[in-house]
Amino acid sequence: MKVLEIKDLRLKLLRRSGRELAGDNPYVIRCGPYEELVISQPDQIHDFYQGDYKRHGKPQNFNFGELFGRFMGTAVGLRYGEDWRKIRKHFDPPFAFHAVAQRTPRFQREIGLWIRELAQDSKEGVSDVAVGESFRFLVLRLLAVHLYQDAFDDRLYWQLLELSESHDHVVHALMTCKGHDSKIWSKFPTSTRRLLDRFLNGWKDLNREVIGNAREGKWECPLEITARGFVESDDMTEEEFLSTLGEILFANVDVSASVLSTTFRNLAKNTKIQDELRAEITQCKSDADFDMSKYLTNSKTLLHRVTMESMRLAPAFWFSMPETTAEDKTIGGFAIPANTTVIIDNQRLNEGSVTWGSDGDQFRPDRFLEVSPQAQRCGFMRFGTGAASGRCLGKNAADVVFKLTTIAVVERFQMETLIHDGNDKAQSKRGVPDVRFIEN
Ligand code: HEM
Repeated sequence: MKVLEIKDLRLKLLRRSGRELAGDNPYVIRCGPYEELVISQPDQIHDFYQGDYKRHGKPQNFNFGELFGRFMGTAVGLRYGEDWRKIRKHFDPPFAFHAVAQRTPRFQREIGLWIRELAQDSKEGVSDVAVGESFRFLVLRLLAVHLYQDAFDDRLYWQLLELSESHDHVVHALMTCKGHDSKIWSKFPTSTRRLLDRFLNGWKDLNREVIGNAREGKWECPLEITARGFVESDDMTEEEFLSTLGEILFANVDVSASVLSTTFRNLAKNTKIQDELRAEITQCKSDADFDMSKYLTNSKTLLHRVTMESMRLAPAFWFSMPETTAEDKTIGGFAIPANTTVIIDNQRLNEGSVTWGSDGDQFRPDRFLEVSPQAQRCGFMRFGTGAASGRCLGKNAADVVFKLTTIAVVERFQMETLIHDGNDKAQSKRGVPDVRFIEN
């Protein structure tokens, strides 16, 4: 097995070096005391989950050290086995399909308001928009509306925005500091530790206040019900509740913004697909029996293919979070001992020619008419992959919200691209307008 010593953590560089070193075979990356096996091909994903998937573990704090552990270590995404099941039991209900579907009218209203604001500064119906920035917090707002329900108001939304910023500062500080995995360093009153304490205290105070108010006022508030998991039963701690809620609201801001901006940038570049989508929406809505829920869940629509294609090109993470095998097994022809930490190169998987053909890096939604669901199972990292395909807690909410937002935008605007140098990701990061929205 080939081993890559990591000195530079830039993911693009890591991916290229890995490919040069091992081709399509699995390889090991070594960073200080940690070793992780990197896999990227569908047959390797199959082998990895085969037989022991339910007993897979996760390295403590994802090998990011004690401070990261205080920050996110008790969130559901970092847990496994019985600890994972106990937390999911309390968080699954508001994310179940029906709970999310019931919220559709409210989501539509909020999305309508968001888009109206976007068009407010338009000149004669034309606005040049940096889509990554403009849609960045829409999903955070919709999730907060959904989870806090009657307890949600604009004041809470602004407090969440502030906390989201402070969450990002902590992530940045933890990822860039050199001694992050040193036990001694984590005890020192460093600026990272101060940032972390400020975030954790602010997050706890806000939720205690909101949930207390909801309880006193007997408001409808799904989160108040979830919070009973640590008040009335002892199978979830308050810390687990708060870190999981932080993972849900804050860790998905950029993930979701990236999917939406991939959709709008590519529809702007592909006016034919955009027009076909607009025609499909108009046609469906003109049907006397039109049912929005059925349209949203119909996997045969262009809307579905556009959403899938955007998620294929904008996977949640470029590399999956580390997960450990439970038993000795063979992965991609190599003997891998139990307890090996494995990560998946999601971009290589999602664009790989084995599943997606030679144009896997291009936006072409109709490819989903060609690639069988069986091939997608281990060849596509969407809300998980292989045996873990649907593990994402927010999958129903994300799917509904992406589709409703796409419908609302396409119905109201024609989109044109403002990107001419092909470097679209870099442009939108700087907040440079990349899509022209023209009111219909
Ligand atoms: C509504 C927004 C979203 C929320 C609230 C959400 C929430 C979560 C949570 C809590 C987890 C950890 C689940 C667990 O381990 O039990 C998770 C995992 C994950 N989510 Fe999401 N997510 C959202 C959007 C997305 C999107 C848009 C994508 C894809 C582009 C995505 C892909 C994933 C993946 C790949 C995992 C890891 C699954 C695994 O461990 O195998 N999520 N998500």
